[in-house]
Amino acid sequence: MPLNLPRTIEFVDGRVRFINQLKLPHALEYVETSDWRRVAEAIRRMEVRGAPAIGVAAAFALALAAYHTRARVVDEAWKELEVCAEELRRTRPTAVNLFWAINRVLEAAKSAGSVEELRRAVVETALEIQRADEEANRRIGEHGESLIGDGDTVMTICNAGSLATSYYGTATAPLYAAFERGKRFKVLVLETRPYLQGARLTAWELHRVGIPVKIITDNAIGIVMQKERVDLVITGADRITRKGYVANKVGTYPLALVAKEHGVPFYVAAPTSTIDLTIERGDEIPIEVRPGSEVTEIYGVRIAPEGVDALYYAFDVTPPKLVSGIITEKGIVYPPFEKNILKVTT
Ligand code: MRU
Repeated sequence: MPLNLPRTIEFVDGRVRFINQLKLPHALEYVETSDWRRVAEAIRRMEVRGAPAIGVAAAFALALAAYHTRARVVDEAWKELEVCAEELRRTRPTAVNLFWAINRVLEAAKSAGSVEELRRAVVETALEIQRADEEANRRIGEHGESLIGDGDTVMTICNAGSLATSYYGTATAPLYAAFERGKRFKVLVLETRPYLQGARLTAWELHRVGIPVKIITDNAIGIVMQKERVDLVITGADRITRKGYVANKVGTYPLALVAKEHGVPFYVAAPTSTIDLTIERGDEIPIEVRPGSEVTEIYGVRIAPEGVDALYYAFDVTPPKLVSGIITEKGIVYPPFEKNILKVTT
């Protein structure tokens, strides 16, 4: 089901082309590069963002390093790959897809016997990560669309949309699948301060596809749930622990609390590559703290008094007791998560 949406990121003939999401919704601009360091910078600056897209971008950065290596012996090419991987690991700490994708690529390359073999293994694995992500999201859509009824109002936060993935998105995949099946519903998206992924990106995507969408401010969730009928919340995830703790864009945890208070089902949509089986508890998830200037300034214009800084946690953690279900490519996982997450991951 091709949507009226552009590809987030592509690797063609030794070049990576990605949408510069900092420019949306005002301009649909692409960056094209053959330099893996430029891709690492794009992840850090959030030109490419969203857990699965970060994973694909990291895999493509490694593919660029391998494709353009001048190394003559495989050990030398491997060392260059490790340097690239190390820099990528330092870009953003919370989305586990980044580390998952890097490990998968390195694993595929480690037994290469020549530079040519290493190059082929890295590029093919990176492309496979992208293909598999698109396919996983399509399946998330198929599993999740049954949750959406005709006439419903669905709430979401941030952008767990096509832009945040190879295609379809995670939280948006059930919306796109339901819409294609003729269901009509509307979406309320939290603007998602300070980077405004909801107002800028999710609103842009849904509007482009033709799904009615309205933006609410992050602090309006209480009054909106009191005044309007909200049938369902679907969010994305950056990392889910073995016990079902969900790290996602800051504001997700309060959204889950308000949803619980109002009896609104709260679902998380994520591919199994977002599940980190190595940790159990929420406080084990590294939470990214970004520069305060991203809060005190909007588009470079200062909105806070000079000399006052901001404390900016970019993610928060929702405990499993607030999560109704996790929509994965292998089906919807319901509580008890401790037991059922293992069924889709092992
Ligand atoms: O800081 P961002 O924009 O990378 O955060 C994105 C989110 O929190 C998404 O909900 C998450 O990565 C899932 S994307 C399918």
